[in-house]
Amino acid sequence: MNNKKLQQLADTYGSPLYVYDTEVIAAQYNRITTAFSKVKHSKINYAVKALSNINILKVFKQLGSGLDTVSIQEVQLGLAAGFDPKDIIYTPNGVSLEEIEKVATLGVQINIDNLSILELFGQKHPEIPVCIRINPHVMAGGNSKISVGHIDSKFGISMYQVPLIKRVVENTNMRINGIHMHTGSDILDIDTFLRATEILFDVSKQFKDLDFIDFGSGFKVPYKEGDISTDIEQLGKQLTKRFNEFCKEYGKELTLMFEPGKFLVSEAGNFLAKVNVIKQTTSTVFAGVDSGFNHLVRPMMYDSYHHITNISNPKGRERYYSVVGYICETDTFGSNRRINEITEGDVLCFHNAGAYCFSMASNYNSRFKPAEVMVHKGKEYLIRKRETFEDILRNQENITIS
Ligand SMILES: Cc1ncc(COP(=O)(O)O)c(C=O)c1O
Repeated sequence: MNNKKLQQLADTYGSPLYVYDTEVIAAQYNRITTAFSKVKHSKINYAVKALSNINILKVFKQLGSGLDTVSIQEVQLGLAAGFDPKDIIYTPNGVSLEEIEKVATLGVQINIDNLSILELFGQKHPEIPVCIRINPHVMAGGNSKISVGHIDSKFGISMYQVPLIKRVVENTNMRINGIHMHTGSDILDIDTFLRATEILFDVSKQFKDLDFIDFGSGFKVPYKEGDISTDIEQLGKQLTKRFNEFCKEYGKELTLMFEPGKFLVSEAGNFLAKVNVIKQTTSTVFAGVDSGFNHLVRPMMYDSYHHITNISNPKGRERYYSVVGYICETDTFGSNRRINEITEGDVLCFHNAGAYCFSMASNYNSRFKPAEVMVHKGKEYLIRKRETFEDILRNQENITIS
């Protein structure tokens, strides 16, 4: 989206503001479906956690996507957006058996990642087929917080515990209809990913009643110039060949599934914040914006890089700034960045702000969460109003203290 349009949106809806371009979402969705078009049955389940506004979910529905969810609330959002329960997979970690059972009654595909829960669920509901999340013990993922398939991870059932899974299945008479993995986000090389898929094929062979194999996600997108990204086309070529061979061996056309979040929405999002202050210290020039890690936590949480541009002065000479937020703790969006000259009142754009940005926003410091705007087929829509003070007080009991 060009600077002029972004500036107009900031002028119309105020700041801070999240802006999403559904054209980018559709292009990414089509890239991945094209890459796997030679697989007879394939399905993309968008990972709701990345960006969960109901209108974004409706866009995914229009594209033909299913949903990957991790909480009953995400499932309910998907249903409210009009998804068929059969197009939703639920992959919880560390949630109660009661929640899993509630989701199962909604008709959603259950994915279990814990042997104890598998046994309890199988004993009570042997008629409900479940998918199993396997931990392939492969270290993929861009940093330790988002690598989830390694040996010390809390996710999945170890590939070494397959004999125990089989015992539970036999004892309970339950049916395993899918095998799943998710090794982590920001996968840096597809060879590691392909190694994990081989492990998944080995596990899958041991379950005779499968309908699908879900390879999770973790596809990396570029955050800055020269950044590597997952070569989805190459992965498509190599995995399609292996998957089709596997289906032959298995004797059934299984469905190949993925559940990307970041790949589908990261680049579709821009976050706009206004510069409140320019402050020169002995060592740095700070540009302080009307936002902070309460609205975009990734730089402080994961050391993530978000490219920052000055959309109000895109042709100004470049100078060095540290862009910081207004939270009363270290709150740095980017250090020592070369940005077109900034004056107070300018609007800065934080790129790649579609995934894990608004969805991780909070009211820390009792600030309002940002508004969200979606640009769809040439029209702009306010898809989340800016909060007001009533929202801050909404669930607080304002009692009289004696
Ligand atoms: C089970 C599961 N599937 C899919 C995803 C989406 O990952 P990404 O946004 O890297 O595509 C995640 C992310 O944490 C996940 O936990």
